[in-house]
Amino acid sequence: TFVVTDNCIKCKYTDCVEVCPVDAFHEGPNFLVINPDECIDCTLCEPECPINAIYPEDDVPAGQEQFVAINAELSRDWPVITERKDGLPDAKEWEGKPDKLKLLER
Ligand code: SF4
Ligand code: F3S
Repeated sequence: TFVVTDNCIKCKYTDCVEVCPVDAFHEGPNFLVINPDECIDCTLCEPECPINAIYPEDDVPAGQEQFVAINAELSRDWPVITERKDGLPDAKEWEGKPDKLKLLER
């Protein structure tokens, strides 16, 4: 499965959602997650993210392994998103900032 990681938090550009053939993306207030039970590993979403927040489960950056479980957990609670929308208002200034997990809104 593919996993959305730390850099998406407080950016949420949503370019990733429209290419997913199985509607695996779920939306929270300032982050998206992928439902591992739906993802078919098509790889289409990975290059769509302008800030490289999406990785294959086996290739998540060191220190971000917890996002595998976070995607599985939050995809059970959050609604599906299939249409692109504007990123968050101050997304630009949060791009690439480290350790945004503490800012994740649930
Ligand atoms: Fe959807 Fe494909 Fe991305 Fe999985 S890898 S979330 S199926 S676009
Ligand atoms: Fe997040 Fe990138 Fe998608 S910032 S919403 S994973 S396009």
